[in-house]
Amino acid sequence: MHLFFPRTHTTYTHTMARKWQTLALVVLPLILNALAITRYIPEGQETLFGIQPSSTDTSLATSYTGSAAYDPRTLNPPIPPTDPPVNTQFAIRLANGDIPGLSIRHHGAFLGFSIEFSVSNHVLGRNGSALSVPFLNLLANLQRRSGRITVRVGGNSQETATMVPSLASGRTLEKDKNGLYNPTQTPPLVYTPEILYMMSNISSLVNVDWFLGIPFNDTTNWHLDIVQKGQQILGDRVLGFQVGNEPDLYLSHGRRNEGYGPISYKGEISSLLNTMRSQGLKTQNQLIAPSVNGKWTIGEVIDTGILVDFANEIGILSVEKYPSDNCAAAFKTGAQVRQPQDMLPTYLTHATGVRITQQYLNISRFAQEVGKPFMMFETNSASCGGFPGVSDAFAAALWGLDYGLMMAYSNFTGALFHVGGQNVYYSPFTPPPSNRTASRQWTVGPMYYAVLAMTEVLGRSNRSQVIDLGVNNGEQSTPGYAIYENGVPMRVALFNYLDDASGAHDLRVAISIDGGEVQQPVSAPSSVRVKYLLAEHVTTKSNFTWAGQTLGANFKSDGRLRGEESIVSVPCDTATNTCTVTVPAPGFALVFLNDKAYEDSAPSGNTVTFATTARTRTVNTATIDPKALETSNGHGGKDRADIQSTSKGSSPNGASRLKEGLTQVVMTGLGVGFGAALFTLL
Ligand SMILES: *[C@@H]1O[C@H](CO)[C@@H](O)[C@H](O)[C@H]1NC(C)=O
Ligand SMILES: *[C@@H]1O[C@H](CO)[C@@H](O)[C@H](O)[C@H]1NC(C)=O
Ligand SMILES: *[C@@H]1O[C@H](CO)[C@@H](O)[C@H](O)[C@H]1NC(C)=O
Ligand SMILES: *[C@@H]1O[C@H](CO)[C@@H](O)[C@H](O)[C@H]1NC(C)=O
Ligand SMILES: *[C@@H]1O[C@H](CO)[C@@H](O)[C@H](O)[C@H]1NC(C)=O
Ligand SMILES: *[C@@H]1O[C@H](CO)[C@@H](O)[C@H](O)[C@H]1NC(C)=O
Ligand SMILES: *[C@@H]1O[C@H](CO)[C@@H](O)[C@H](O)[C@H]1NC(C)=O
Ligand SMILES: *[C@@H]1O[C@H](CO)[C@@H](O)[C@H](O)[C@H]1NC(C)=O
Repeated sequence: MHLFFPRTHTTYTHTMARKWQTLALVVLPLILNALAITRYIPEGQETLFGIQPSSTDTSLATSYTGSAAYDPRTLNPPIPPTDPPVNTQFAIRLANGDIPGLSIRHHGAFLGFSIEFSVSNHVLGRNGSALSVPFLNLLANLQRRSGRITVRVGGNSQETATMVPSLASGRTLEKDKNGLYNPTQTPPLVYTPEILYMMSNISSLVNVDWFLGIPFNDTTNWHLDIVQKGQQILGDRVLGFQVGNEPDLYLSHGRRNEGYGPISYKGEISSLLNTMRSQGLKTQNQLIAPSVNGKWTIGEVIDTGILVDFANEIGILSVEKYPSDNCAAAFKTGAQVRQPQDMLPTYLTHATGVRITQQYLNISRFAQEVGKPFMMFETNSASCGGFPGVSDAFAAALWGLDYGLMMAYSNFTGALFHVGGQNVYYSPFTPPPSNRTASRQWTVGPMYYAVLAMTEVLGRSNRSQVIDLGVNNGEQSTPGYAIYENGVPMRVALFNYLDDASGAHDLRVAISIDGGEVQQPVSAPSSVRVKYLLAEHVTTKSNFTWAGQTLGANFKSDGRLRGEESIVSVPCDTATNTCTVTVPAPGFALVFLNDKAYEDSAPSGNTVTFATTARTRTVNTATIDPKALETSNGHGGKDRADIQSTSKGSSPNGASRLKEGLTQVVMTGLGVGFGAALFTLL
């Protein structure tokens, strides 16, 4: 840590990293607290960097009345600061060895999805023998990189979900839109075990494990069919059952009586466990708790002794947190609306991920001590549907990936990005309207790209340790991380949140690797490989690319990446032993420092795409129903209502007249094992 790079503005050292981490973790929240506004904030909501809601909408001037998921309105990219300008050239010097501050070891499936129960049928498929091809493909893309995926089916709508043997309509799930449930307007729903069969059948094609949730609206007569059937149908594929979704908000949502607190919640878990045992249900490591939003801290819940009394039953500690919310606009709560254009800069900074993770460092340390996984069980850019022009723009892809890395660095063990329906802006992917899923008509959002890139950032070794390097003197618009494995720097992840098409704000980052404790000379490989996550602007809404490949524009995806994979080889300067990597403004670069790092992340497995009646070694006889290509225009209000509601809010509008069709894999027989085959429609 004593050599200096004359060619660069900054030399990175661990001491500096610590300093900047300390600054970010300690000082920043203080500043933010000082800025925080004190005016009335609706329950369960909070401000982000003291952004004041303003009453004049300056950005989304044009009106749009269609579904949120397809809102075409774009914001104006912020102009990079000039006084002082952001430094765009800096060095990163990585040490070999056991450097301090590395996270726990992570696997490549760190980021997964949380699918709102009420839209699960639209995402998963029609029934156990007619699965959604695009969903399978979207998961297969990830599996080819990380080896596996985790998906939760749940959310607010799990709380009143009632299992019935079958529905007269033949559907797998129906909602009672008259029974509005809570401020996120999630209606009660009924569903059939077919939902679980769909999950099971999906797991026989792609390596996905699931999380479910136990309804917590009636804690005197427990409805435990989901556990009974879930354990029976999914077996080891169900990793656990959430016990309560944000129980700290039950009181304010009118779901519990005055006096309800962490002790009451603990009593409910106790009652639940007694009932589970009396019904002969497996309890060991089956519960996921407490999934609090923050009205109670997780520490307050732990202090009730739940991990003492239910040490064997609670398998995973969980929280749920969104950095902001759009409730005022989505539900006309009367609170002043946060303007998307004002909110955009809060997603173009490392500080947001720092701020949200910093409050959990105590717990992530505690979780390690007690040997429990600690998950961000549901999150996304903003609750109550997200912000138009932000949650659905490239800014969210960069932010989501930075936030994901920040959670990994902060010793969460996993995080799930929420998927709502047609009426939210933030979904990683959205099936087309109605329960008819059309062949190439899915819409893939920025948060999916964050998950996709994250699989390659962490790779398949199960040993990836993340460190926030505090690069560029801790500049918040250009964060950088290193990923280590067994003391060896493997990859560098570099962000550029700035937006400048001229190229003047592209970063030039000089990376070198130090010999570490053995004091070998500074060394560099002869070249490094780089993959980019790119779009034209931070406000761009579609056609994002990861390593040159895309899932296209709205209604254009069948879940397969399109285009040639592009990997940039950057020659290193052997005189200075540095590899100088460019990061476009805006953009993200993943630098593979050695061959193993590259190979551990590269898409692997069977790349065969198959069509009707194709047989592969990995999947037997997946056939396409000829009816799959049927299309149909228009649908009645009833069907539309069926797709309306989602957790975390849906805007009241949503009529959308889209061409529809069907997409299904009709499974006539399932192969053993799973593969990474991509599913093709004819
Ligand atoms: C599953 O859905 C397909 C397509 O809609 C249909 O043809 C088939 O009959 C359904 N199977 C069952 C068991 O309901
Ligand atoms: C697939 O789903 C159907 C229910 O529709 C079920 O009968 C079948 O057993 C499932 N197959 C597997 C492998 O789970
Ligand atoms: C939705 O699916 C059910 C069967 O699963 C079917 O009866 C109904 O007609 C479908 N509605 C539309 C609009 O496709
Ligand atoms: C819980 O929700 C279900 C489904 O909506 C409903 O049937 C039941 O009455 C509710 N129980 C309580 C105590 O609210
Ligand atoms: C840290 O977590 C422990 C365990 O829950 C809790 O008792 C303690 O109050 C927490 N400390 C802080 C500073 O939050
Ligand atoms: C994460 O856990 C590791 C191992 O316990 C620890 O060294 C590191 O400081 C933790 N990171 C943070 C940000 O707390
Ligand atoms: C990573 O962990 C998974 C799940 O435990 C395991 O299946 C896989 O083989 C591991 N990969 C390596 C490279 O050890
Ligand atoms: C996305 O790409 C497609 C195909 O190249 C193109 O037709 C479309 O205009 C692009 N959309 C946007 C918003 O750039």
